[in-house]
Amino acid sequence: MLRKLVAGNWKMHGLSGDLDEIRQIADQSRAYPAVDVALCVPAILIERAARSVPGFAIGGQDVHYAEKGAHTGCESAVMLLDAGASLTIVGHSERREAQRETDQLVKEKAQAALAAGLGVILCIGESLDVREQGAAVQTVLAQLDGSLPDSIGGEAELAIAYEPIWAIGTGKVPTVSEIAEMHAAIRRRLDDRFGADGRKVRILYGGSVKPSNAAEIFSIADVNGALVGGASLKAADFIPIVAAAS
Ligand code: 13P
Repeated sequence: MLRKLVAGNWKMHGLSGDLDEIRQIADQSRAYPAVDVALCVPAILIERAARSVPGFAIGGQDVHYAEKGAHTGCESAVMLLDAGASLTIVGHSERREAQRETDQLVKEKAQAALAAGLGVILCIGESLDVREQGAAVQTVLAQLDGSLPDSIGGEAELAIAYEPIWAIGTGKVPTVSEIAEMHAAIRRRLDDRFGADGRKVRILYGGSVKPSNAAEIFSIADVNGALVGGASLKAADFIPIVAAAS
């Protein structure tokens, strides 16, 4: 059994005044030692967040594939680590769409992060069109194939987040059988690709996870945790999700 990972994605939310909320989330998470908990915050908040919650996992939301150089506005894996992050999200659908990130770019980011020792949550997920055409599984597996690093199994851990785009921030959630089908397909693919190392990769579900639906989602086979957006901003919403994973 893999330990569950519940990670919050704060997206473009969070100012100095929210450090207290991060402290509350970190403090209250300690009541659930069977669950790994992390918060992925805006890059500019990483260092202050990491300093204020020692021992709690703080992550970034993106990373550049290069170690350093002429890349205005970007941060490297070494920089995130230096600021106190222990993981980062890559390939979120909001970046794939708005920043036109390709599978190849996401793969390079994931490889660079893992090589530097930074954990990775790699996001994949289909649009509503694709789901309605009945092509969700094949599309998501193709995205996975194109985005996965060539090798895993080093110190830094890879997790996959299945986030159907149409479920993000909408309150719509796939059915239990839709989630089960997709997670099982991803699990088989990781097994084929990486064998024993692939079996250690946690597969998170993301998209409108809330205190009210978390327990049902966590009970699905091959759901090894969640990537939570809106409901991760407040301890009052996020901690019940952590509790449901426990
Ligand atoms: P919501 O939980 O707000 O739907 O966001 C999900 C998400 O995109 C997490 O990365």
